[in-house]
Amino acid sequence: MLTIGQVAERSGVPHTALRFYEERGLISSDRTAGNQRRYPRHVLRRLAFIRTAQRVGLSLEDVHAALATLPDNRTPTKSDWSRLSASWQVELDARIDALRRLRDRLTSCIGCGCLSLRSCTLQNFDDEQAADGPGAPKLKPAVEGGT
Ligand code: FES
Repeated sequence: MLTIGQVAERSGVPHTALRFYEERGLISSDRTAGNQRRYPRHVLRRLAFIRTAQRVGLSLEDVHAALATLPDNRTPTKSDWSRLSASWQVELDARIDALRRLRDRLTSCIGCGCLSLRSCTLQNFDDEQAADGPGAPKLKPAVEGGT
């Protein structure tokens, strides 16, 4: 079993983050009679999984959901990582595509600064209802009907 200081030193994760991860259910510890945390050694691999997933842009909620798929909430194995990271590929590709589209639209804004709701392509980015006109088209019938 490792103390919180040993885990922090070996993983590079600060004490505060370790406590935060524990509060969020991402890692767990046992308590000594003096109420000090003691972590099993495999928490280091779990932390590596969490940090790596965060590094590729996943939220802690995504990481929590992924870890919850493991039987008995066990530490991810190499094959677990392979399976879970493959499932994230689609979402990461979608994020990359969205960033590329954002970058491509940004060129017309460089040096402009208008941030116009009417003409700036970065305002209401990917607005699926733009073709329905300005405002909140879905709310118009309710407002016009007086409800
Ligand atoms: S800031 Fe002017 S077009 Fe985007």
